[in-house]
Amino acid sequence: MEKDWWKKSVVYQIYPQSFMDSNGDGIGDLNGIIQKLDYLQNLGVDVLWICPMYASPLVDNGYDISDYYKVNPIFGTNTDMEHLIDEARKRNIKIILDLVVNHCSDQHEWFQKAKADPMCEEADYFYFCSTEDDQEPNNWRSNFGGSVWSRLPDGRWYYHTFAKEQPDLNWECKKLRDKIYEMINWWLEKGIAGFRVDAITFIKKDLSFASKEVPSGERYPVEKLTDYPGIGVFLNEMKKQCFEKYNCMTVAEAPGVDNQAFERYAGKEGYFSMIFDFGWENMEEENDKSSIEAVERWKKKIFQNVSNNSKIGWSAIFLENHDQSRCLNKFLKKEAINFYSASALASIYFFLYGTPFIYQGQEIGMTNVEWKNIEDMDDVRAKRTYQEAVDQGKNPQEVLAYFSELGRDNARTPMQWSDEKNGGFSIGIPWIKCNDNYQVINVEHQIHNPGSLYNYYKRLIKCYHDHADIVKNGAFHTLYENEPGLIAYEREWNGTVLTVAVNFTNQKLAMPYIDQPCILHNYKAVNTSQMQPYEARIYYGRSAEA
Ligand code: GLC
Ligand code: CA
Repeated sequence: MEKDWWKKSVVYQIYPQSFMDSNGDGIGDLNGIIQKLDYLQNLGVDVLWICPMYASPLVDNGYDISDYYKVNPIFGTNTDMEHLIDEARKRNIKIILDLVVNHCSDQHEWFQKAKADPMCEEADYFYFCSTEDDQEPNNWRSNFGGSVWSRLPDGRWYYHTFAKEQPDLNWECKKLRDKIYEMINWWLEKGIAGFRVDAITFIKKDLSFASKEVPSGERYPVEKLTDYPGIGVFLNEMKKQCFEKYNCMTVAEAPGVDNQAFERYAGKEGYFSMIFDFGWENMEEENDKSSIEAVERWKKKIFQNVSNNSKIGWSAIFLENHDQSRCLNKFLKKEAINFYSASALASIYFFLYGTPFIYQGQEIGMTNVEWKNIEDMDDVRAKRTYQEAVDQGKNPQEVLAYFSELGRDNARTPMQWSDEKNGGFSIGIPWIKCNDNYQVINVEHQIHNPGSLYNYYKRLIKCYHDHADIVKNGAFHTLYENEPGLIAYEREWNGTVLTVAVNFTNQKLAMPYIDQPCILHNYKAVNTSQMQPYEARIYYGRSAEA
């Protein structure tokens, strides 16, 4: 198999609960994914990233694993998983799984044993401590609100970066690390092609566990607990003992890794094949989204990150994932959302330097939900943050409005396959409600319409594959950086150049002359001197020096 094969691949992310329900219990499952493999092959993607499908009490939707070796019965069986790997392989599609090893579930056998017996081997697999004054051991904050410490009935405290049902694993313990590597290799032997590695920058702790300073005006410390010195020892070990042996693709969720640290993670000798570029993931701070000023600020962030990272490593580039709201809502005002702006957005990111990821439903333009009731929501983070905010006197409607804008459940509503009941996702009652707009936005309508967003994505993917060498090797250069509202860049390699030019505004823009054939665009006609609102063009030809 070609080395670095992932540099020519397009990845499609599946959130199994919400993708396709094959047996009518309202929960998506592995057989549902198998049913949709032809759809995915038709779209043209090379790799599927399947979010956690392991045994789990689902406190954090599967990111709390109680048995790493077992498929959660609500999704099917291990045999179904093998079947999925085989069926995907027949269609030239590879499967990568989520690797969640910063923490496990409090229902995992290891934690249960550790809880029952402080002297057992498994007690070393976690961070336990006792205090004399009944207070938490320090003031560190969990990512889901509250302290990182929770208490067992016998008085011991244990550490959790996320929910209290997700105790952190103690990577200092060699026996534990060996168990993790054994599990990773077991899955690789089953024929999966790699992993998306969850929250990995949290695995190394500051072992002094000293309280952090609280800046004035803040209630809690804001110091980051990620990428702590010494983490590389663990990550290199995991790479050597597992990933390297299989030439597998690894993509890390590595919060807290800045431009300086990028090379250690995703450079030539990096711990992983790539890490997600979170540097331009939203416009959260922009209250004038869709204005030229906001677009210019966003463009700067993209260009800064990609210019830096493309010189030293490889990124995973994305607009959406299961932790974020939908990209159309993130990057556009409601009134500006349409086919042109959606396809413009897709064109902007697809050829940046890295492997493009598509999140389920992004290819048909699924949008956020207006959450009116906290009971409709499922996300543990949303529920706990909501409670904390309301307890502190915040207006519940305001908190819900915040989630309608930024909540993780926006990405977790069922995939919209058709205009039938529940968007064709399930004949039962979906575990989380469908977006009301499934009658308008769905696969069935788009697949047969050549002018649909689905078919635009399909063309983009084809274009990516047709120019695999340039997307893998081509240097990244920004273009016309000072033209407000125009996002343009080129990838140049071996005398050829691929150019992307997108007018990401709702106004017409004067167009600099580009002396190459336009090979893909989202309007019917191409006017060489002017661009329509949200017009996108991809050009390919010989480079000027050639
Ligand atoms: C990652 C996952 C997120 C999960 C968290 C804890 O950030 O993407 O969904 O809640 O890790 O595992
Ligand atoms: Ca099901």
